Amino acid sequence: MIAFENVRKEYPGGTLAVQDFSLEIASHESLVLVGSSGSGKTTLMRMVNRMVEPTAGRVLIDGDDVAALDPVQLRRSIGYVMQASGLLPHRTVLDNITTVPVLRGTAKREARERAHDLMETVGLDPALASRYPSQLSGGQQQRVGVARGLAADPNILLMDEPFGAVDPIVRSELQRELQRLQHELRKTIVFVTHDIDEAFLLGDRVVILRPGGIIAQVGTPQEILAAPADDFVASFVGADRGARTLHVERVDGRDVVVDADGRAAGVLAGERPS
Ligand SMILES: Nc1ncnc2c1ncn2[C@@H]1O[C@H](COP(=O)(O)OP(=O)(O)OP(=O)(O)O)[C@@H](O)[C@H]1O
Ligand SMILES: [Mg+2]
Repeated sequence: MIAFENVRKEYPGGTLAVQDFSLEIASHESLVLVGSSGSGKTTLMRMVNRMVEPTAGRVLIDGDDVAALDPVQLRRSIGYVMQASGLLPHRTVLDNITTVPVLRGTAKREARERAHDLMETVGLDPALASRYPSQLSGGQQQRVGVARGLAADPNILLMDEPFGAVDPIVRSELQRELQRLQHELRKTIVFVTHDIDEAFLLGDRVVILRPGGIIAQVGTPQEILAAPADDFVASFVGADRGARTLHVERVDGRDVVVDADGRAAGVLAGERPS
């Protein structure tokens, strides 16, 4: 479990990135932080692995205050997938994936074998192992980033807009892979995105942030869509716009779901709720 307790972050120079944030993230949960640029998402995420130190409050992992843990050990024990993959440009794909496990004492040979398995897990042809990041497509680089995040078999995986830089088709492929992986691996995932659709797709729970890391609403996608806490949330999730205000029309004896623009979105399965 990850617990944020009244966490605050004021950067030198006076920016108050996070005012007072409290949240518990259960083990094996996939939690998505979503909010506009500058709302404090990266700051919050980096407080988990001590790449950012809170000005006040604390972050606990399984009851231990991270401030008391060795930052280097801590970082190596938590997977971190950065925006635009953050790969080391002068290292091969294989070396990028094996760096952390080797630093943690895994034998080189074992780390390499596991790297090959991981490449398959994330849908990368193992033949790419000897390439450099610049010789890969954007989607392949992101996959290497995910494989690297998983390499040390961490319980916690932090993912900061990992699919932000790729085109929509590759993006939805990567999203599906991550769903499949999560089903298999059951990590605790903290995922950051700007994109509410991505948040609803990948989050068991979603946190919608206002500037200053203020929680506008937290809940399952269903809960948020069913009852947006206020106008800010309603507008953020698009509950006030076409694609999400669906209604049912009876067509040839079947219930067809139609969006606000009159486009058919699908057919209602099972019994119609009364
Ligand atoms: N190292 C820093 N020094 C000073 N201010 C910072 C620093 N890092 C972030 N900030 C400021 O803190 C606020 C929150 O930044 P943060 O990176 O957490 O936002 P974010 O929600 O991740 O944004 P984005 O979606 O653009 O990545 C912003 O106003 C930002 O300018
Ligand atoms: Mg950010």
